[in-house]
Amino acid sequence: MISFERVTKRYPDGTVAVNELSFTAPDGAITVLVGPSGCGKTTSLRMVNRLIEPTEGRIAIDGTDVRARPAAELRRSIGYVIQHAGLFPHRTIVDNIATVPRLLGAERRVARARAHELMELVGLDPALAKRYPHQLSGGQQQRVGVARALAADPPVLLMDEPFSAVDPIVRKGLQEEFLRIQAEFAKTILFVTHDIDEAIKLGDKIAVLREGGVLAQFDSPDRLLSEPADEFVEQFLGRDRGIRRLTFYPSDGLSLLEGPVVASDTPAPSVRDAALAAGTPWLLVVDGERRPLGWANPAALPDRGPVGAARLIGFGHAFVRGTDSLRAALDSAVLSATGWAVGVDGEGRTLGVISQESIGAAIRAAHTQARAERADGAKADEAKADEAKADEAKADEAKADEARADEAEAQAGAGDVAAKSGKQPAERAG
Ligand SMILES: Nc1ncnc2c1ncn2[C@@H]1O[C@H](COP(=O)(O)OP(=O)(O)OP(=O)(O)O)[C@@H](O)[C@H]1O
Ligand SMILES: [Mg+2]
Repeated sequence: MISFERVTKRYPDGTVAVNELSFTAPDGAITVLVGPSGCGKTTSLRMVNRLIEPTEGRIAIDGTDVRARPAAELRRSIGYVIQHAGLFPHRTIVDNIATVPRLLGAERRVARARAHELMELVGLDPALAKRYPHQLSGGQQQRVGVARALAADPPVLLMDEPFSAVDPIVRKGLQEEFLRIQAEFAKTILFVTHDIDEAIKLGDKIAVLREGGVLAQFDSPDRLLSEPADEFVEQFLGRDRGIRRLTFYPSDGLSLLEGPVVASDTPAPSVRDAALAAGTPWLLVVDGERRPLGWANPAALPDRGPVGAARLIGFGHAFVRGTDSLRAALDSAVLSATGWAVGVDGEGRTLGVISQESIGAAIRAAHTQARAERADGAKADEAKADEAKADEAKADEAKADEARADEAEAQAGAGDVAAKSGKQPAERAG
């Protein structure tokens, strides 16, 4: 857990880069700092590993002020990844990755073996081990940067726009690789970006900063998209936040219709008559393994022979029910020429079809449920706050009791002394 407690950074020229910043980055989670250029993201990050010292306030890791530890030792316990990777140009890839373990006293052989393991973990070809950084692509260099930061297995990682110097496709690959690694290692991560989409994709929690280093909102991505705190956050999130929010709603609740799904070798007349009788506007034709082939108009099916796979209308892409979100399901319906989406299982086998309207109804239901959950959450928070207050009151009482006991003891002690001092003269007298 990394906590910022009213942290302010004023540079010598008077620039206030970070202004009374308070939030807590939970253990084992990715907390993203996002905001426009110059809003103090890098400054905030560099105060955690003491490359910059705050002017006011305190940063603590697991409750311990970072200033309580020697800076060099602190930095070895925190992985740090920056844009352009920041690799040592005159060291090979394997030695770059082995840097911190070597600093921590690992034997060269052990450190290099570990480096090779990490190269595999971040998806780097072992053949690159002996190369120098300038002989790698930007995306490969960023992977080396991540591997180097993980080499000493630090509990905390700081990442400053690690993926922003590469093209969108490489970046997407790096993000997915990173989420896979995090799912395995559960590091406590502070991640800086100015890209709100990256923040929403990677963050468990997101801190939105505005110019002047002021915290605009600290929330989960879903909460941020559903309840932006003010106009600045709303603008920063962009116009399609409603659609993006659907990423957080699972598709497993969608009820798919199996009726309109027909195999291409089924006799056409029987299917056609049944579909026309049922008022089914489209039939989804599938192959022998239930993979979708395309849509057929029942009225246009042949009078004899099988349904076949000719003259079908494209279905765009299917969505995987359970794994994909409502956003993917809606996208599938929007891209399908018929306005119907195709749901498949993990193996790509058709489970059923669903109309845009039905997905719309599911979205409205999900919103209603989310609202109810938020209300419950707020109530639970209130109850917790009440409980905490009651505990505090109890603690106060206990303290008061203790104080009374102390006082009583002190008085008793004083009595002793008085008794003793009363005795002494008597003894002396005796
Ligand atoms: N050494 C410095 N002296 C004076 N001002 C500084 C110094 N370093 C940064 N600043 C200022 O502090 C503010 C915050 O800078 P910082 O680098 O933290 O922003 P950032 O959010 O990381 O921006 P970007 O997205 O462009 O990387 C900016 O106004 C910047 O000009
Ligand atoms: Mg920066």
